[in-house]
Amino acid sequence: MNINSKSTLSKKSYISVDILTPKLISNIFTTADKIRKMSFEKSSKILKGKLVTLLFFEPSSRTFSSFASAVKRLGGMTLEYQNPLQTSSAIKGETLEDTMRVFENYSDAVVMRHFEKGTLKRAVDAVSIPVINAGDGIGEHPTQALLDAYTIQRKAKSLSGLTGVIVGDLLNGRTVHSLLKLLSLYKNNTIYLLSPQQLKLEPLFKSEIERKGVHLIEISSQSEIPLTADFWYWTRVQKERFSDIKEYEKLKNKFVVTPELLEEKGNNKMILMHPLPRVGDIDVRVDNDKRSVYLSDQVKNGLYIRMALLSLILG
Ligand code: NCD
Repeated sequence: MNINSKSTLSKKSYISVDILTPKLISNIFTTADKIRKMSFEKSSKILKGKLVTLLFFEPSSRTFSSFASAVKRLGGMTLEYQNPLQTSSAIKGETLEDTMRVFENYSDAVVMRHFEKGTLKRAVDAVSIPVINAGDGIGEHPTQALLDAYTIQRKAKSLSGLTGVIVGDLLNGRTVHSLLKLLSLYKNNTIYLLSPQQLKLEPLFKSEIERKGVHLIEISSQSEIPLTADFWYWTRVQKERFSDIKEYEKLKNKFVVTPELLEEKGNNKMILMHPLPRVGDIDVRVDNDKRSVYLSDQVKNGLYIRMALLSLILG
């Protein structure tokens, strides 16, 4: 099956949600639906002979392994570098541009995570093979946004007219930034934002999202969570972005999902999402609630979405 025929993602880099359109997103979701139904035996011909470098300058378990699984489930191969600052020539002072140009000779694409916002753009400018952003500092996490939106759409049947609640570190959480950008491509979305005062959405970014038509409502306590939400998107406070660990300790578990909160403020049709890792911000007693999808559907969708994206870019 040629699932790549109508794609405009072919051979493109994907470092920001900014390149997406509702049409392209729908194409990615349709491809993910097809892959979901395919046997792995069949899908494993799509990237046959292709090699993808995974270059992760920041710790990762899910994103790294889901990309590795996605490439391998499509029949491709991976060159895997976790922590290249310790294990590659970067330790000797090699520039990112040189590293990228070397990998360009070995591989068909690079999936990269970096601790500094903006580095992905430098990586793209250095090479002519596709580069995929697996998280850049406090910037974006555009593949996570796709899998989050796919998870929402599968449940709510639409990405328009939604009511969502996004909680946690809105200042530093790159998954939040990409998800809000993605939701701003659709109409009539209302998002309630709940964070400690110090971790609110950056004002310029917030007005940009509002300008695109998303109705953003900042709330300051869990008691203000609306009863009508389609989804709750909980996130952890991003410890690694704090220079003062005491400040982190003060803010880390200000908002926690408990069975009581879900009982009081949840409704039957909503889903509870989290990009993971959670660090005390969702009580484990909520894990078996049928609305909790963070350890099940959301993770599984990550594999299908990354398989879809890779097959559209490289297939
Ligand atoms: C997120 C990330 O790295 O930004 N994790 C992930 O990729 N699933 C969220 C986080 O670390 O809090």
